[in-house]
Amino acid sequence: MAQASPSDMPTSAEGTPFASERDAVIWRQDELKDLERLLRQLRFDLVNNRDARGAEPRLEELQQKATQAHFLPAFIEGTHGRGSDARPEIWQEWEDFSAGFVDLEEKVADLVEAAQQEDYRAATRAFSDVSLSCRSCHRAYRYN
Ligand code: HEC
Repeated sequence: MAQASPSDMPTSAEGTPFASERDAVIWRQDELKDLERLLRQLRFDLVNNRDARGAEPRLEELQQKATQAHFLPAFIEGTHGRGSDARPEIWQEWEDFSAGFVDLEEKVADLVEAAQQEDYRAATRAFSDVSLSCRSCHRAYRYN
C-alpha cells in the first residue's frame, strides 16, 4: 500500500481530526476567518507600527496555519454545497487546488523573511503577494 501523504485527498471524515464532514466545513471556515484576522493584525504590526519583534508570535502562528498541512485535511471530498462556498472542482483538480496552499506557504515565507530583516518595504510587498495568493485560489475554487 502506498504511504499516505499529507497532500492526499481525504475521502471521508475517518482518518481526519474531524468527527464529521459538517465539522470539517465549519472548522475550515472558522480557521480561514482567523487567518484573515491574523493577517490584518500583522499588517498593522509591520506596515503601520514597523514592529517586527512584536509581530514574532503572530508570524509564527501564521507560518503554522497558512499551510497545506493545516488546511487540506478539512477539505474532505465532496464537502461543497449547502453551508459551503467551496466549488466542486476542488476535488476534480485536487493537485492544482492543493498547490494553491503551497504557493501561499511560499508567499508567507517571503513575508517572514522580510520581517526578520526588518525590511518593511519588502514586508509591504509580501502582504500584496499573500493577498494575491488568497485571491487566486478563491477565484478558481470558491463561489462569490
Ligand atoms: C488553495 C485555496 C485557498 C487559499 C490559498 C485560500 N483560500 Fe480562503 N477559501 C478557500 C475556499 C475553498 C473557501 C470556501 C470554504 C467553504 O465555504 O467551505 C475559502 C473561504 C475563505 C473565507 C470565508 C470563510 C467563511 O466561510 O466565513 C475567508 C475569510 C478566507 N477564505 C480567507 C482566506 C485568506 C485570508 C487566505 C490567504 C491568506 C485564503 N483564504 C487562502 C480556498 C482558499
